[in-house]
Parts: sequence; C-alpha cells; structure tokens
Amino acid sequence: MKKERTLVIIKPDGIQRSLIGEIVGRFERAGLKLVGLKMLVPSQEFIEKHYLVHPEWRRITGEKTIESYKKKGKKPPHEDPYKVTEIVLDNLKKYMSSGPVVVMVWQGIHAVGIIRKLIGSTEPMTSDVGTIRGDFTIDSYEISDLDGRAVRNLIHASGSLEEAEKEIALWFKSEELIKYRLVQEQILYDINLDGILE
Ligand code: CDP
Ligand code: MG
Repeated sequence: MKKERTLVIIKPDGIQRSLIGEIVGRFERAGLKLVGLKMLVPSQEFIEKHYLVHPEWRRITGEKTIESYKKKGKKPPHEDPYKVTEIVLDNLKKYMSSGPVVVMVWQGIHAVGIIRKLIGSTEPMTSDVGTIRGDFTIDSYEISDLDGRAVRNLIHASGSLEEAEKEIALWFKSEELIKYRLVQEQILYDINLDGILE
C-alpha cells in the first residue's frame, strides 16, 4: 500500500492554462513521489483505449452524468447511460488529442485515493473548493453538452487501483518507471523515527 501507484494526465486545457507546475507542486507537497513522466499528443484511438480499459466506464460515467443533472433539477440529455457515454467518448477523443498532454505516474500511500481527493470531482462547477478542478476552472455538464464538447476539467486521474494498474501499463513501459529513494520518505514511512537525532 505504501507503494501504490496511480496515473495522472494533465489534459490539453491544463497545459494551455500553464498549470503544469501548479499541479505537479500540489502532488509533490502532499508527499507523493513522481516515478514516470512524459509529454505527447495522443491519438484519438489511444484515448478510446485509455477510457475503455475500465469495462464498466460507459455505464458508470453515464449514470454519474444523469444523476448530476437530476440533482440540479435538470433533464439529462438521455435516460440511457450508454447513450450519454457514446457522445461523451466521441467528445473526449477530440478534447484529449487536441494538443499536448503531460502523463505521469505518482507513487505513495493510498496514491489513487489521495490524488482523486486532490483533483476533485468530475464537474468543475460542483468540485470542492481547494481541489484542482474546483480551484482552476469553471466548466459544467450543462454548458459542455450545450456546446457539444467534453467537460474541460484540466486533469485525469485513475479512479481505482484496478484502473490505475491497467492505465499505467497502457501508457508506460516498465523500464520508463524509475525506482529511486526520496529523502522525505524517511519521515513519511519510517516506523520508529530513530534516524533524526544525532
Ligand atoms: O475524469 P473522471 O474520472 O472524474 O470522470 P469520468 O466519468 O471517468 O469521465 C471522463 C472524462 O469525460 C471527464 O473527466 C470529462 O472530461 C469527460 N466527461 C464529459 O465530457 N461529459 C460527461 N458527461 C462526463 C464526463
Ligand atoms: Mg474516470
């Protein structure tokens, strides 16, 4: 658990908004360790593969979107979650391949859950204040659906450990992930704290 890994992508809007440093800084200051990093322009086919590594992604994302509309007392674009995600996936492919992205692997205690907490929920309009999606952008399901585009929320992070393992294997070769020690691990993980005093 101390070496849990998760995949993060700074999406094209995050790069265009000059938020690479801000985002990396938030994960660093939380105590997580960066073990893999690359910048590239992904193809649409690759983005489809990325989202569909999670076999239930179509259903879950569709249901989440419909629920969010209903919570606000609005009518969702479709009642069928699969119809919703058919459109979402198409929009996502265009969004994610529109420019460079930064792809990273972060490691540390509960890395998957900690990073999901730091990035905030999917829709920036309702993401908590203090999170990356809540602090640095302003999109909503309603406006993005009206415009016929993906929700621009700056960043992707794996939603579960299983998703993380599959996504990391998709984006990185094992030799691209670096095994190294960080000085701060002494205070984060040492059990007896007997290495501080001289
Ligand atoms: O990224 P996250 O895991 O929070 O959400 P998701 O449900 O896995 O959806 C993936 C991405 O699709 C989101 O981050 C949005 O960019 C996009 N999306 C969208 O454009 N419209 C929706 N109704 C739902 C998601
Ligand atoms: Mg997701």
